[in-house]
Amino acid sequence: MKRVLSFALLFLFAGSVHLAASEENAKSIGKNAALLLTKTLMAELKTRTKKDKIEDVVNFCSDEAMKITQSLTEILPDGVSISRTSLKTRNKENNPTQKEMEILQTFQDEINRGESLKKSYLLENENNFYIYYKPLVIKKECLVCHGGSSDIKPVTAQKIDKLYPKDEAKGYKEGDLRGMIVVKMVDGVFKQ
Ligand code: HEC
Repeated sequence: MKRVLSFALLFLFAGSVHLAASEENAKSIGKNAALLLTKTLMAELKTRTKKDKIEDVVNFCSDEAMKITQSLTEILPDGVSISRTSLKTRNKENNPTQKEMEILQTFQDEINRGESLKKSYLLENENNFYIYYKPLVIKKECLVCHGGSSDIKPVTAQKIDKLYPKDEAKGYKEGDLRGMIVVKMVDGVFKQ
């Protein structure tokens, strides 16, 4: 897994590290890192769903989603880290900070106004950090684990309840805001 990710990174970041303008760089790194995380998780999810029963895939998400996210941070350039968060979390380790809650609320407002979040992102510059925020919207394939009681099989629901007794990440519909990816970059990372 790590090798595959490293290749993808080389490819994605090859053009971006030498740009002069920090803000452009931050945008490019944030965008590519978020894309890489989404693609990696989706690819794993698809492979597992073909092979395993959905309730076993829940175990995969529980064991691996966090690890994949963290291992991505290890291979990203030094000073760049990535995480996922939401206003309604399943894994409490993903709980948002106050600032992240505000950003999530602005994405939620966009959805409430009927805007598509396809191209939405936010880039903030704070105390020597650039932070890139990319909203995650619920797609059909998310519903088996994040949908309502008619989407989630009882056996899957049981497994989720057992692993996450305080789960709030159910009851979503297609198009709902599920959360966001956060890519944090130390400003100096662009001057290496
Ligand atoms: C097979 C079940 C499964 C599917 C399908 C699934 N998820 Fe999850 N999701 C989980 C589990 C389990 C967690 C908690 C694991 C973790 O991140 O530690 C989680 C966590 C998350 C989180 C992190 C915030 C939190 O609640 O802890 C986000 C964001 C997320 N999922 C988005 C999605 C999106 C978007 C899709 C569809 C593209 C999706 N998920 C599909 C099971 C699933």
